[in-house]
Amino acid sequence: MRIAENKATLSFSNGTSVDLPVYHGHMGPDVIDIRKLYGQTGMFTYDPGFLSTASCQSAITYIDGDKGELLYRGYPIEQLATQCDYLDTCYLLLKGDLPNLKERQDFHKIIISHTMVHEQMQFFLRGFRRDAHPMAVLTGLVGALSAFYHDSTDISNPEHREIAAVRLIAQMPTLVAMAYKYGVGEPYVYPRSELSYAGNFLRMMFAIPSEDYRVNPVLERALDRIFILHADHEQNASTSTVRLCGSSGTNPFAAIAAGVACLWGPAHGGANEACLNMLEDIQRQGGIAKVGQFIDQVKDKSSGIKLMGFGHRVYKNYDPRAKLMQDTCNEVLSELGLENDPLFKLAKQLEQIALEDDYFVQRKLYPNVDFYSGIVQRAIGVPVNLFTGIFALARTVGWVAQLNEMIGDPEYKIGRPRQLFTGSVARNVKPIEQR
Ligand code: ACO
Repeated sequence: MRIAENKATLSFSNGTSVDLPVYHGHMGPDVIDIRKLYGQTGMFTYDPGFLSTASCQSAITYIDGDKGELLYRGYPIEQLATQCDYLDTCYLLLKGDLPNLKERQDFHKIIISHTMVHEQMQFFLRGFRRDAHPMAVLTGLVGALSAFYHDSTDISNPEHREIAAVRLIAQMPTLVAMAYKYGVGEPYVYPRSELSYAGNFLRMMFAIPSEDYRVNPVLERALDRIFILHADHEQNASTSTVRLCGSSGTNPFAAIAAGVACLWGPAHGGANEACLNMLEDIQRQGGIAKVGQFIDQVKDKSSGIKLMGFGHRVYKNYDPRAKLMQDTCNEVLSELGLENDPLFKLAKQLEQIALEDDYFVQRKLYPNVDFYSGIVQRAIGVPVNLFTGIFALARTVGWVAQLNEMIGDPEYKIGRPRQLFTGSVARNVKPIEQR
């Protein structure tokens, strides 16, 4: 519960001051409630990029960036990744606790039996160029779901929200696989209800009608872990986008499509794609021998080059997801006989140099989850430009849980930031010949 035990006093040089309530969360920094600041002082706060601003209260995910800790509903990510599967994690994020056996069976059944998309979807997909970026296609496909399901479009109705959540979580793998198959010109593979969530996705991605497909359990587990690690990450850019978009009361599928669009950017979900492209570039230019030169370029601010897969707005310590991903990476490469994969070796070398280099140490720049997830996905056979699509698939549950939490919050209002105006003051339109 939120308790205002302390207050903060904001004093101005003219001698006036205002008292602002301070709230304690259950963990993490306290927050100063500035909602009445404008009414009391006529001033806004200025915080581009939300560096010091809590945009909402939330009970879903907790991150301690200094410790490198990530909890979903209080459970450490390390325990969830090793003792639960992705659908258990979805249940947890949506409902607040892990399912018991019966709840687990029912939830798995409902998700696995809603994986087919409307048959008309394939004709919609056909409107795209075959070489379109999968994230462009996915943004369109997810937005289009709002045109297919008229019985789950009212986000103020809890039943509609529940149906939309099931459809989104169940159908994202089908849509991502369809976007992939369309791009490579292969027939779509329909989902199969006897397979696991991750196994089904692997089959929809890689099966072809002319051959049997056997799901490799190591790859299935690896993919499931990628999904768990990406399922939620509190108020990141795409989640905040979904909340802001949904705050107008828009259709839930449209709000999630906005999250997909935001995730695409290279500073966010697009980083795993950018990271793999970076490793491939270094490999082409000479591989491990060129790592030192590349690190020098990264440290030279005028180069504009960043070490992709390093750094995080919140983690100022090792990203706990990166450690888990590194274990998965070792498992997958050994299963596929790729232990000597040159990109993996290159990544290890880059990591070692960066972790010891003053530039990175001083700025607390550590590998994030994307540093290894790209190598795992590439080994599984996922094309680089689909990495962010898989991230979107996994993050959908987080977006839905956060959107539903916002709608259920009695303090929720349409999101409407303010600004510090630096444009022209009021002026008159001159006749065209005088401009
Ligand atoms: N390589 C080199 N320098 C870096 C990097 C990097 N990857 N990341 C941050 N820095 C430097 C900045 O230049 C800055 O240096 P300065 O203090 O001398 O000006 C300092 O470290 C602080 O960085 P900011 O940009 O202020 O940190 P911010 O919190 O705004 O950015 C971000 C975080 C966007 C993730 C950044 O670290 C980055 O671009 N990393 C590479 C992209 C990436 O891997 N993104 C994935 C994020 S995780 C995810 O979405 C799952």
